[in-house]
Amino acid sequence: MKDDNRTSICKIIPLIKEFIEGKRVNLDITVRKDPIIFHYYTEIIRYWSKLNFILQKTQRSLGFYHFPQNEIPIYIYIIYRKFQEYASKKSILEELYLSSNQIKKIKRFINKLETFTWKIALKSKSYKEILSITEAIPTFVIDRLLPVMSFEFIEQNIQSMNDYQKYNNFIRISDWKLKSSDHSFLISLENELWSHNIPSKRDRDLPELVFIPNEKKSLILKSKSYSSRKITFQDKASAAVIKVLSPQSFDYICDMCAAPGIKTNLIAHYTSNQARVISGEFLLKRAFEMSKLIKRTNTVNTHLINCDSIQFPLRINTKFDRILLDAPCTGSGTFISNPELKWRQNNNFLYQNVIIQEKLIGSALRLLKPNGIFVYSTCSLYPEEGELQILKYISMLEPLQLPDWFSPSYKINGQIVSGTGRLFPSMHHTHGFFIGKFKKKEK
Ligand SMILES: C[S@@+](CC[C@H](N)C(=O)[O-])C[C@H]1O[C@@H](n2cnc3c(N)ncnc32)[C@H](O)[C@@H]1O
Repeated sequence: MKDDNRTSICKIIPLIKEFIEGKRVNLDITVRKDPIIFHYYTEIIRYWSKLNFILQKTQRSLGFYHFPQNEIPIYIYIIYRKFQEYASKKSILEELYLSSNQIKKIKRFINKLETFTWKIALKSKSYKEILSITEAIPTFVIDRLLPVMSFEFIEQNIQSMNDYQKYNNFIRISDWKLKSSDHSFLISLENELWSHNIPSKRDRDLPELVFIPNEKKSLILKSKSYSSRKITFQDKASAAVIKVLSPQSFDYICDMCAAPGIKTNLIAHYTSNQARVISGEFLLKRAFEMSKLIKRTNTVNTHLINCDSIQFPLRINTKFDRILLDAPCTGSGTFISNPELKWRQNNNFLYQNVIIQEKLIGSALRLLKPNGIFVYSTCSLYPEEGELQILKYISMLEPLQLPDWFSPSYKINGQIVSGTGRLFPSMHHTHGFFIGKFKKKEK
């Protein structure tokens, strides 16, 4: 193994230690730029409970109940390599800088790991417990989804959110001089990609997006179109939300929870900078990052306010034509790219978000013109952050049509909620999203 790779692996151990200590691990730019550290850290966190389950079983059968706390990250790393990547004992030992004392102990540990069998470990566990252990998902998540999904569909979505290789990458035009759906540019882009052996394909649902296989992502980062800012990466669900909002030139639009600015940027691009956009963001740090994006992308006609959108600080009387509320949420549809969020899922976290969302919807409806368009979205799979929120305000809302490639909403009391729909990781190969579109009733 190359020394550089070994050094990167050694840098993972302190990050795992920080995670165990409950610190919010900051994957700064140096970590993000090192694909080895980034890969192992995110994948170890993704499978955290599964790796700990194997650790505990092995520890018990070895007869030593207490590993020193500072050694746990090493054991977790070894289990990850063995069970998720099927690495051999030889390569694992080569990857770690170990003292001669440690080598003996670790060899014994790996020998024991080799005798671990799932059949015995999962004996007498229920289906729910087996799914929770093998896919590393808190039972809290399964319990929240069971009233609205079949067990098989939960399983498929949880598995899809673990399989980052299958996550669909898309690129879109980001050059202001071009329309977002400029046909001739997209054709020449596809040809350019093919000539570099990057098999690309226009998305069937949103043809302005070009699909790129995961393993070719790094080639795009090196391409001329990317470095000259003609194209950018784009997640499909965010683009779908803006398609649903359908912003028009000269519309007065509010993006209430806007950072990091992906959707504000799309509004500006889809209207060729012609819509007048006011974006609100509560967290100063995120607002600051977003302001850099606005500058970098030469977005005009967009004003960013660092504010609490529950009390939107608008002094003028004019109300908005369209409002997008892409609300803060548990992120339970985004475990594929935010695996650490799995371990924050609990009742408190869910209901903190539910309370804020409810207040934000109330605020949105105060700021919107009668007959104005309201789009509410969350990257959550829980009905509490989607259908159930909309039902609280349904008397003020007239449901509007969503694209036919969306799944219908969950059934609440046996009925779907009109004007709302869902994107699922296992069906749409996007983050899990709830999206609703409505007209505000006049009275
Ligand atoms: C789901 S993210 C928005 C993502 C964004 N729409 C995009 O596409 O880039 C939700 C954002 O809402 C912000 N937020 C949370 N509570 C808020 C509030 N009361 N007022 C305004 N922004 C809030 C969060 O800090 C977070 O940046």
